Amino acid sequence: MPKYYINAGNKKSKINKEIYGHFSEHLGRCIYEGLYVGEDSEIPNVNGMRTDVVEALKEIKVPVLRWPGGCFADEYHWKDGIGPKENRKKMINTHWGGVIEDNSFGTHEFFELCRQIGCETYVNGNLGSGTVQEMSEWVEYMTFEGVSPMADLRAKNGHPEPWKVDFFGVGNENWGCGGNMTPEFYANEYRRYQTYVRSYNSSFDTPRSIDNPDIIRRIACGANIDDTEWTEGVLKTLFRHCEDRFHGNADGLSLHYYTHPGGWEHKGSSTEFDEKTWYMTLAKAYYMDKLIKMHGAIMDQYDPDKKLGMIVDEWGTWFDVEPGTNPGFLYQQNTMRDALVACINLNIFNKHSDRVKMTCIAQMVNVLQSVILTEGAKMVKTPTWHVFNLFKDHQDACLVESHIDTEMIGEEEEFMVPNLSESASVDADGKLHITIGNLSVTEDYPVDASIAGFAGKKVSAQILRGEMHAKNTFEEPDAVHSESYDVELSEGGLKFVVPAGSVISITVEE
Ligand code: AHR
Repeated sequence: MPKYYINAGNKKSKINKEIYGHFSEHLGRCIYEGLYVGEDSEIPNVNGMRTDVVEALKEIKVPVLRWPGGCFADEYHWKDGIGPKENRKKMINTHWGGVIEDNSFGTHEFFELCRQIGCETYVNGNLGSGTVQEMSEWVEYMTFEGVSPMADLRAKNGHPEPWKVDFFGVGNENWGCGGNMTPEFYANEYRRYQTYVRSYNSSFDTPRSIDNPDIIRRIACGANIDDTEWTEGVLKTLFRHCEDRFHGNADGLSLHYYTHPGGWEHKGSSTEFDEKTWYMTLAKAYYMDKLIKMHGAIMDQYDPDKKLGMIVDEWGTWFDVEPGTNPGFLYQQNTMRDALVACINLNIFNKHSDRVKMTCIAQMVNVLQSVILTEGAKMVKTPTWHVFNLFKDHQDACLVESHIDTEMIGEEEEFMVPNLSESASVDADGKLHITIGNLSVTEDYPVDASIAGFAGKKVSAQILRGEMHAKNTFEEPDAVHSESYDVELSEGGLKFVVPAGSVISITVEE
């Protein structure tokens, strides 16, 4: 029987709520149809935002939303998306299906969406094809309170009050779609552009840190997967001749990593796969742990105090598109395999919350590993949505020391995975939260958990389980759902069984 040790008295890092963040791009049916249907739609909406989707997002407590891309961000010119909709410029969305973007969802609509969800804002600026002036004016337009050309324009467009930009990305994937730059070239550009991303509402000597909400936290473009040369090259240039208190003029450095079972060339179907591919996918998801350690070690050299957050602002599964759908729209279904991928990643992020300060799953609706799928007026919550729901109590809680005995399972030497994934935290009310996933397709594991530093008196649990291909469809939207589960409170701990292919969340109260 696997032994599980939790030391609730050994508090580690805070699990920033932003670790549970999301990403929405002007790609396929994420923004249009998925989130925004327009004020005149027959689909129930508030100011154009789908009511059903907003309600489902509020339920999982979405803490932060990244927008407008992705690759789209470095082609986006924000002035095209403000003012009367009938006058807004139309453009070709060259990256994603070559469709016409009518810019009916722009800056004002993004802030309205975040207001309705009740989340923080992460705006990604255009460094690849935009100018310093354009970026600077966007920040002024969004945040300046007072009399200025951009603040006046915002007021003229119906919003006299400034908005709060919590995070600002200075470019996206600038090693690729964001301009094909070298790390040194990008970092020099970053230094220049970020100078004009001003936090108008704070003073010059406000301490900079990824955790300081009084400033716009600036995110520099980090590596793709294991490109340590990029991380090294960017940090070397950012920290060059830079006073310590500015820690490289950045508050965060991004990392992008997608889970493709057979690599970029062999992504495979999202719904039809065998056990071998199940384990291959989960092994690829586990690679996130190695990547965080790899890039984290370089960050530690430049920033030993961990003021610079690692921002995994694109992660998740990337499979072949659903048959018959536009290949440029990246629409895929979501099964229990995605649920386990989410569980593995979120437990890894929790465990690395001393360095990982924000992550954004790609993407929120109808694109890649979505938490929500829509079809006309119908909506389904995916198995991934349910995992976010099971994990939400970790938000802003404190990670505590934990260890579970695991064995390696799988079908191929190269793609073996630990059978169990877990993390534990204590929240502000003193409740202990445990999330645990069983990666085996066939084996149930009884777990004997001992908990130190915590006198548990009451326990409750929820489980998400299903056959590995189980999914929610528009015909059967609740085929995969969570339900309450029996966990026994024993002397000094807990006893429970983790069924094959399941995710469990447990709350213990003193
Ligand atoms: O999420 C889809 C795309 O993947 C994003 O636009 C880009 O940043 C990444 O390559």
